[in-house]
Amino acid sequence: MLAGKNITLGITGGIAVYKAAQLTSNLKAGGADVRVIMTRSASAFVSPLTFQTLSGNRVYSELFEPVMEWKVQHIELAAISDLLVVVPATANILGKVAGGIADDLLSTVIMATTCPVLFCPAMNVHMYQNPVVQRNLTVLKDLGYHFAGPGKGRLACGAEGPGRLAELDVIMEKIQALLPSKGDLRGLSILVTAGPTREPIDPVRYLTNRSSGKMGYALAGAAAKRGASVILISGPTNLQVPHGVEMRYVETAAEMFNEVMEYFPRVDIVIKAAAVADYKPREVSGQKIKKTGANLVIECDKNPDILAELGRRKAHQTLVGFAAETSNLEDNAHQKVRNKNLDLLVANDVTLPGAGFEADTNIVKLVYPGQYVLPLPIMDKTALAHRILDEVLKLRSNGQ
Ligand code: CTP
Repeated sequence: MLAGKNITLGITGGIAVYKAAQLTSNLKAGGADVRVIMTRSASAFVSPLTFQTLSGNRVYSELFEPVMEWKVQHIELAAISDLLVVVPATANILGKVAGGIADDLLSTVIMATTCPVLFCPAMNVHMYQNPVVQRNLTVLKDLGYHFAGPGKGRLACGAEGPGRLAELDVIMEKIQALLPSKGDLRGLSILVTAGPTREPIDPVRYLTNRSSGKMGYALAGAAAKRGASVILISGPTNLQVPHGVEMRYVETAAEMFNEVMEYFPRVDIVIKAAAVADYKPREVSGQKIKKTGANLVIECDKNPDILAELGRRKAHQTLVGFAAETSNLEDNAHQKVRNKNLDLLVANDVTLPGAGFEADTNIVKLVYPGQYVLPLPIMDKTALAHRILDEVLKLRSNGQ
């Protein structure tokens, strides 16, 4: 997603500058070409040499350049950028841009560019809550500028509240969402399943699991953004429908089975991120079950394994499964790849902090037929979605 993208970072003067150094490193590691513009006060916090080393490009800083020179540079920097990220964004830069002031290199580039601009504000809580700053934020949002954060918590000045720089994975997610899509999935049809299923016990009760649907929705949104035609079959969630996705809602595993089988012959890729209930109550009571003096035993029947059935019916399709494990992750994963005839299994240990159902991040291992395992670092679910789609494309270009 980041490969070959031109990202310009505008660094303004706040203590969070050191986090911008880590962001520079992450963007570069993702393959982006990063150019850094530092304001005079940013250079008082961290030396431009830090950003030059991390980005591998010269840093644009007014400390070293005469005004005449940057008056020409601003047009070039504005034109080549796919995205401009101001991190940290002080009250001062927000005020300047909201007021139409362009009196240094960064504010001039912001004014001259036509690419999306993402502000990541970081400042003292009272500054952030100042009505002038709040008015400027409203003005900038109305004008179409984008924002990540600020987050809440303990600030460098000792105060508590909003004003912290957003977490880096939140900023990375925004960056990925704002970058132009490479359209590499155009022409492909992808079916994604997401969320839990609900297996009714009586009119008011059901069996379910902790799946939030976040991973499946991130996959569907990422695939649509990259040009695929996407059908998302989802159990009950509280999530927004991703842009450009055809939605089908289901409740039970049996309903999901029917929907998936109907679409399967027409799709190229299936990604089964849903946490399907393995069992359903044998009897569904028509009336609410009343409590009695005795214990309640609910007998369950097995639900069909949708993914295993897809593995049996597979023709030209690429099949990706998920596995939520709490022990023996790799052994279980290899077994699932074999038994379900998968091309790829995304296995996660849901007991790890930062992994699993309700988190915004995930830590997974990609498991391939032939027992090949690729462990991935902790990633936010959007970044992981793109990574999984990259792997699927690789598999398809290898003829799988
Ligand atoms: N799956 C499915 N239908 C089911 C159960 C699971 O399609 N009835 C799919 C899930 O969508 C997921 C994969 O199978 O992609 C693995 O699910 P998981 O629950 O981890 O594994 P199971 O095969 O159900 O095995 P177990 O619960 O014993 O770990």
